[in-house]
Amino acid sequence: MATRRSSKGPAAAALPRERRAHYPIAIVGPGALGLHYAARLARVMPTALVARSTARAAQLRAGVTVGARRLRPHAYGPENLPSADWVIILVKAQDSLPAARVAARMAPKGVLSLQNGLVEELLRKRLAGIRAAQGVTTEGAYRERGRIVPAGHGETLMPRGYAPLARMLRRAGFEVRIERDLAAARLRKLLVNVSINPVAALFRVPNGRVIEAPYAHFARELTDEAAAVLAAEGLRIGATQAWERVVAVARATANNRASMLQDIVAGRRTEIDFLTGALIRLAARHRIAVPTHRAFYRLIRLLEQSKSERRAAT
Ligand SMILES: NC(=O)c1ccc[n+]([C@@H]2O[C@H](COP(=O)([O-])OP(=O)(O)OC[C@H]3O[C@@H](n4cnc5c(N)ncnc54)[C@H](OP(=O)(O)O)[C@@H]3O)[C@@H](O)[C@H]2O)c1
Repeated sequence: MATRRSSKGPAAAALPRERRAHYPIAIVGPGALGLHYAARLARVMPTALVARSTARAAQLRAGVTVGARRLRPHAYGPENLPSADWVIILVKAQDSLPAARVAARMAPKGVLSLQNGLVEELLRKRLAGIRAAQGVTTEGAYRERGRIVPAGHGETLMPRGYAPLARMLRRAGFEVRIERDLAAARLRKLLVNVSINPVAALFRVPNGRVIEAPYAHFARELTDEAAAVLAAEGLRIGATQAWERVVAVARATANNRASMLQDIVAGRRTEIDFLTGALIRLAARHRIAVPTHRAFYRLIRLLEQSKSERRAAT
């Protein structure tokens, strides 16, 4: 991969600010999904990858396996950022603010989050003056023993105004759609996430089990409550249709372990505040009771805390 203004590759990262490297596209967050996007993009254009630290960037530059290929990304830490035309944010929702700060420093034409949870408002506030939106992706990838495993093709949705970014992603082989009603698409994804992930994480079961007895009872209650809230938000969806959607996704991803489950098992913070927490905030706005979501929210937070307490004690 070569940079557009410099042919020195990763070493260009050390150049003084006024001569910093420039990329058509940068990805903030070199995790499972960030590396999946970066690996495909890097085959067709210079792609910058921004890590949490300089040390992590150096590790990545040494190489990382994505699918069947070894990727040696143009990785940067926050101290020596390149500039970029378009930035995609793929950190976990709770890391959105520092990621947005980093994105702004790359002076982009636009920033697109492809995160789960509801983060658009937060990103727009932090990126005032820069085009910013939260898209939706059904691409999937997970980490396994130090490598990234792509988990099936999906679709990437973004709003109007992002056509140049859409073209770049299509060149890299992604299926991309410019979506007029992105808010509705985000709410539909939220419905599925808040109905499956907390059940999978609490009972430590793969997605497919969530819609089977005895777990289906909880998933159905979460779906019914969420459907009422999302309908009040303007989403055209009834309880039956909502449940059919949840069942279809659980079946299509039956063997997957939800990211919330993976986070709980690994002792990491989950995205619960931006998923169930976001739904609870919407419910409060519409004065709709969501007791099952509140219970699952508390239980997942308890699990997160007990894990971090156990880690602190060792
Ligand atoms: N994986 C999927 O299949 C999938 C599908 C759809 C949507 N999503 C959503 O996409 C987002 C990313 O998911 P993921 O599975 O890729 O998570 P992940 O594997 O945990 O990756 C997140 C990455 O962000 C990095 N990071 C955190 N703070 C950062 C910062 N300030 N600057 C740069 N990098 C930073 C983390 O670095 P450290 O490792 O150093 O902490 C980590 O590498 C989430 O919102 C998720 O819900 C994921």
